[in-house]
Order: sequence, then structure tokens, then C-alpha cells
Amino acid sequence: MARTVKLNSGYDFPTIGLGTWQAPAGEVGVAIKEAIDIGYRHFDCAMFYRNEAEVGNAIRDKIADGTVTREEVFVTSKLWNNFHRPELVVPTCKKTLQDLGLDYLDMYLIHWPVAFKEGDDLWPKDASGKLQTTYVDFVSTWKAMEECVSLGLARSIGVSNFNTQQLKRVLDSCTIKPATNQVECHPYLTQKKLLKFCTSKGIVITAYSPLGAPNADPPVPGAPSVLQDHRLKQLANKYNRTVAQVVLRYLVQIGVVPIPKSTNPSRLRENFSIYDFELSPTDITFIDSFNCNVRAYPFVDAKDDVNYPFNME
Ligand code: A2P
Repeated sequence: MARTVKLNSGYDFPTIGLGTWQAPAGEVGVAIKEAIDIGYRHFDCAMFYRNEAEVGNAIRDKIADGTVTREEVFVTSKLWNNFHRPELVVPTCKKTLQDLGLDYLDMYLIHWPVAFKEGDDLWPKDASGKLQTTYVDFVSTWKAMEECVSLGLARSIGVSNFNTQQLKRVLDSCTIKPATNQVECHPYLTQKKLLKFCTSKGIVITAYSPLGAPNADPPVPGAPSVLQDHRLKQLANKYNRTVAQVVLRYLVQIGVVPIPKSTNPSRLRENFSIYDFELSPTDITFIDSFNCNVRAYPFVDAKDDVNYPFNME
């Protein structure tokens, strides 16, 4: 099984990435270095995670000590929702590069199709506590994302949390096609329709919360736990693997790129050790059947916004 997939931009995308959301300050840098030693070459970051300086320091340390070269690592970051107005996109990308201490990103994504009220408060609320969104056409934001490529700030660009209709609007007027759409994806949310659509357009799906967000914050009331699923436990026994490894291997085999988050050295190793076994086609079909469209992160605060993405499958 290849360890990279080719993006429509021509660049190679490592098929397992390390997620950094909710990776705490003081821990995330150590985890990045450990991950590089294990073999991870793909790091998924975002301005919203508020830890890019520590992530960048760790990556640069491993480049400086000769463990990897800049060319060998794939670094993704994301444009946060306060900065969708086209004039803000290039400066915001430059700010992220400055935080990371890098001179280019391998991938820059529009984090959500929904725009927030501008300003420094990354989760702006009105007096009643309601999230303050605003309207910016994400197609105009996309044009500015393309400028990030022409300026050499990002090699590939993409989106995150876009539904099929939103992707179609971008595809209809873009010069550069999105290379990926990063969405929640795991055995309880297999995203089959979106995956089929994206594959037909040459767009790779990146899977966040690939393990079903076992420590979701806030927890999803009554949500079933992927890692506790007895059918997955049986498959894990059959392959002599952990449930996490079966789930990650499943995603890679259906052509999705998972980015499990961990700051724990043994789980970092566990999540990367999926290239030396293969699930049978029957077991892949079996896991496909577990889909129940359960979302750990339904983004309900933005559900009234015109660009809320999860009103359609
Ligand atoms: P930790 O960082 O302590 O390992 P997801 O990417 O689906 O949101 O899952 C990430 C969460 O799952 C994190 O809280 C992480 O905690 C935990 N996690 C990561 N890898 C594993 C694993 N192999 N087994 C159990 N839990 C894991």
C-alpha cells in the first residue's frame, strides 16, 4: 500500500497525517518530534488550534537536526472563519506562515464555508451568547486562496467541511481545483456520497475525527463509540490489531486520508502502524454497513447560517 496519494496539484499527500486540534501547549511540540521519529510526514494544523508556533518550532527543530528535510514534510493549515473577506486571505496566510516559521504551506484550506464576524475574537458572540456569523461568498474567498498559490505561499489549496453543492460552486468558477475536502469521516459517518462525488472530481477526502472523536468536547449525548464497537473489536481480534488500527486501515483502503490526533507516544506509534496488514474486501463492505450518519461535530452554533454545510447529506 502506497504511503502517499497524488493530489490534483501534482504533489504527494502522505496517507496518514497527525491531527493537532486539542493538542495542548507544552505537549504538542514533543508529540510532533516523536511523530517524525516514528515516520509521520503529514501534519494537520490550523490557526484556530492556537498552537501553530509550538508545532512549527518542533518541525523546524527536526529539520535543523537533519531528521527530515522541509521537502519531506507536508504541512497543512487553515484559514479561520473571521478572515474570509478576500482582502484578508493573503495576510492571514502570511500570519500563519509566520507563526509556523515556514516559508510555504503544503496545503491551505478554507476551514469552514461559514464566515464569522471579523475581528480578533475567533468565536464572536452577541450579547445573548449567539455565534455571530456574516455573509462572505466562499467563491470570492477561494479566488484569494488561488492567489496564495500564485504568490508561492501554498503549494496546494483546498476546503474543509464543504458539502457537495458548495464544492460544485467552487468547481464551477475556479482556476485551481480544490485538492482536498477535509471532513469528519469514520465508520459511523462513512461519507460515501461525498466520497464518490469528490473522487469523480479528483478531490481527495481527508478524514478528521477518524476514530470517531472518542474524547469529543463537548461529548455527543448518546453517541455510539466507534472504539467500543463490538463488531470492530471482533475484526481487531481477527487481524490481531487494535480497533484504532482497523479503523484507520479501513479509511486508507477506501481512499480517504485520516489525520488521527494523539499526543501519546504509544498511540502515535499504534496509529501509524497500519501499512503491514490488509482488510479483506468483505470486511471493508462490512465496516461500510456501520454507517449511521452520526456526527461528533455538527457545528450547531452555525446551523442558521446560509452557508451551514450539514443541512444536506
Ligand atoms: P490522546 O492524544 O491522549 O491519544 P480523533 O482523531 O478521532 O478525534 O481522536 C482523537 C482522540 O482519540 C484524542 O483524544 C486521542 O487522545 C485519542 N486517541 C488517539 N489515538 C488513539 C488510539 N489509538 N486509541 C484510543 N484513543 C486514541
